[in-house]
Amino acid sequence: MKLLIINGPNLNLLGKREPEIYGSETFQDFFSKLQSKYTALELSYYQSNIEGELIDKLHEAGFSYDGIILNAAAYTHTSVGIGDAVKSIQTPVVELHISNIHAREDFRHKSFIAPAAKGVLFGFGLKGYELAIQSFL
Ligand code: DQA
Repeated sequence: MKLLIINGPNLNLLGKREPEIYGSETFQDFFSKLQSKYTALELSYYQSNIEGELIDKLHEAGFSYDGIILNAAAYTHTSVGIGDAVKSIQTPVVELHISNIHAREDFRHKSFIAPAAKGVLFGFGLKGYELAIQSFL
């Protein structure tokens, strides 16, 4: 099974960025642990701070992968383009957020991705990525 994790803007700074909200582990360290745990899966990871690059990656993976786990970060709340890309591809997409977006500012309550997502996970920290993987098994 081929699964792709896509992380959006500022998530390259996980481990350093607002650790009280996002924790102190880097995504690279966390991702290596996921790969060692789920050896039967073809797990890959992509991060970009650029909206169009995230859309290109969704198009590239969205007709061949079995599942995509998408944390579009701030673009979740603003990007009609990413929402449309998720609607345009065949691969099911799980929307994910590390923090509980509904316990935060009002602008984080809106998602352009959720209406097209297979499901949405938020508030479980990095553990959410593992829960998202399990949702595809
Ligand atoms: C986030 C929540 C977003 O509101 C925020 O802009 C992020 C990260 C999360 O994983 O909790 O950058 O997607």
